[in-house]
Amino acid sequence: MKVLAFAASLRRASLNRRLVTLAAGIAKRQQAEVDLADFHAFDMPLYDGDLNDDEGLPEGALELKRRLDWADALLIATPEYNYSIAGTFKNAIDWTSRARPVPWRGKSVYLLSASPSPMGGIRGLWQTRIPLEGCGALVFPDMFALAFADKAFDEKGQLKDQMLAERLRKELTGFLRLADAVSHICGSETPSEERRRKAQITAALEEESEIQPAAG
Ligand code: FNR
Repeated sequence: MKVLAFAASLRRASLNRRLVTLAAGIAKRQQAEVDLADFHAFDMPLYDGDLNDDEGLPEGALELKRRLDWADALLIATPEYNYSIAGTFKNAIDWTSRARPVPWRGKSVYLLSASPSPMGGIRGLWQTRIPLEGCGALVFPDMFALAFADKAFDEKGQLKDQMLAERLRKELTGFLRLADAVSHICGSETPSEERRRKAQITAALEEESEIQPAAG
């Protein structure tokens, strides 16, 4: 199974990057093929409908779209900004949501966050689910919020707290198993019968969706 992993933070010392790197390592050990991306690769301007009409998607959004198209599943660690989704990530979702077909549709997503605060960014993750689900992503019910993240890692990048480390491993294993099952219908490398069923699902989602018109 093909997994795209990234932290939605540009900061050099990003705690979310440390967390997603750890999660990506767990996924690799479970035989997933992992593309660990740097969010700098998805640099893009603020969403502007005129720019979209005149020039289409900017290069950073196209790069994210290409890598989403390749992936069956996503591991995304994102900071909580002011109790909500990070604006940088929301902007990236908004741009890529204008591509057709919407590249998030049918992708399994596991959300993580890391924060020095006692809440670990969980409030931001609840907000982050909303636009992703609006774009047709299948966001896993469990989410992993790492509190006191500035003190949580050892020098090898592992979690010091063994119970937390085990919870991450278990949750991620459950996610990868479900994502693998879903990928046989919605994934990128599916036999023709499944591809036909995927087209049916996509068409049904397009028809149902009020936010994402079928074209344009
Ligand atoms: C924060 N931070 C923060 N933390 C939190 O737990 N809840 C919050 O609402 C916020 N709000 C917030 C707003 C803004 C604008 C910034 C810059 C920061 C702190 C944040 O969790 C901390 O800086 C993390 O280390 C950011 O993630 P990275 O860059 O380390 O991955």
